Amino acid sequence: MPRGNLRQDIAYDDLREWLAIADGLGELRSVDGANWQEEIGMAAEIVSHDEDAPAVLFDNVPGCAPGFRVLVNVFGGRRMRATLGFPGELTKAELSEALLDFGFAEERSLPVETVTTGPVLENVLTGADVDLSIFPTPQWHEGDGGRYIGTGCYNVSRHPDSGWINLGCYRIMVKGRDTVSYNAAPGKHGRVHHEAWAKRGEKMPVAMVVGGDPLLFLMAGQEVADGVCEYDTVGGLRGRPVRVVPGPVTGLPIPADAEIVLEGWVDPQATVPEGPFGDWTGTYTEAGRVRPLVEVASICHRNDPIILGCPPQRPPDEYSRLCAVMRSAMLKRNLQDAGVPDVGSVWCHEVGGARLLIGVSITQRYPGHARQAGQVAASCLLGAYACKWIVVVDDDIDVSELNQLMWAWLTLADPVRSVDIFKGGWTSPADPTVTPWDRAAGNLTNNRAIVDACRPYHWRDEFPALNVPSPEVARRAKEKFSWLLDGN
Ligand SMILES: Cc1cc2nc3c(=O)[nH]c(=O)nc-3n(C[C@H](O)[C@H](O)[C@H](O)COP(=O)(O)O)c2cc1C
Repeated sequence: MPRGNLRQDIAYDDLREWLAIADGLGELRSVDGANWQEEIGMAAEIVSHDEDAPAVLFDNVPGCAPGFRVLVNVFGGRRMRATLGFPGELTKAELSEALLDFGFAEERSLPVETVTTGPVLENVLTGADVDLSIFPTPQWHEGDGGRYIGTGCYNVSRHPDSGWINLGCYRIMVKGRDTVSYNAAPGKHGRVHHEAWAKRGEKMPVAMVVGGDPLLFLMAGQEVADGVCEYDTVGGLRGRPVRVVPGPVTGLPIPADAEIVLEGWVDPQATVPEGPFGDWTGTYTEAGRVRPLVEVASICHRNDPIILGCPPQRPPDEYSRLCAVMRSAMLKRNLQDAGVPDVGSVWCHEVGGARLLIGVSITQRYPGHARQAGQVAASCLLGAYACKWIVVVDDDIDVSELNQLMWAWLTLADPVRSVDIFKGGWTSPADPTVTPWDRAAGNLTNNRAIVDACRPYHWRDEFPALNVPSPEVARRAKEKFSWLLDGN
């Protein structure tokens, strides 16, 4: 689609409107009677790996009231374009670029609109009525240590000193009738907030949105700068402010149209075992880690509430698909903001959970340009956490095409001359290369390689020519012989 004809139109404000769009596209299936013990997780695993598979809404889960539902596989097919407000024809790379051009243009940002009530307050359960077992919370993977109500979720918290409201997606495990734990890794903003409250010796108020507007979930799962509130970023993306109501117990701003919000208090000291959980690296996290305990003080939910599920599987999966589109756009913006010139395509590859393998193409302008791009990608806001391989290529490579990127890496890079090793980067507890003794010591770091797979700047003119057809020959070949691929 010509770029000039593109417009962004995010035509929904909440999950119900999003469901109507997915249904209209023919990309929503319903399943009745699947159990939470294993069947919802089994079905989620199957659809998650297939980009063209539908979203699936589970209802009539045995043991739960009819209408208490679970939705999975939001981000796929044409609906993944509609979720970000773009036409269904765009490729994933075009979608990411469109997001960069429109959604994140000029750092669009709109503050929230505070309203007095909303559908999320249709049911407010407090005191002895707080009972998490009313929800059809799945056990997602067979080796999980329990039921995770929060996977397509986010925490809303306030910094006690600055008042900064943060949204961060950290998975949430059900621990009891009125207790949960959440898993914010070291350095994540929700953890920074908790540490600031703990320093004062006070309990942190938190609101946990475990079902609601997919766009808020998408944004809460990506790294934005300190002090920025993701509500405002989503308001800017959509061109309309997010409508929030004060949570009935904590007063924290919660989306007025959310499906389910758990409000609670995080004791500075109380922790509980969390996990194991099948994580985004395709491995289980270790058993026995401890995370903050949340005493749930209220459950707010719409009538017939929907849990939004996004359980990670071995990538590529839905989780990596959505992160690839979002993160590639944001990483390109980070590179440009850091002053790296002439950046072409950027892709955070699905097969590496949109973190472990980053491809960047540049039009080389000077000696050292490729290393500069690689080093910035490895350390900027979007790249700092858990990246491992950064491959920088010339601008004739579309880095979103894994085969093209791998070809450039294997063919144009030299293992001795082209690779820089960067030791001790910030990594994730889900990184299986962290040794058990480093993990125990809290040394969650990894090593990363920056691969310069560009033609060497100082002898690029002597570098052997490629045997791919010129654009003109490729065009004529397509015109004349593409019928050969049409099938018989
Ligand atoms: C579906 C999904 C699940 C995630 N789960 C976790 C998690 O359990 N713990 C964590 O630290 N980060 C998790 N992340 C990554 C964070 O959400 C991401 O780093 C985000 O930037 C955190 O927000 P913050 O920057 O405000 O801390 C997840 C991301 C997504 C999209």
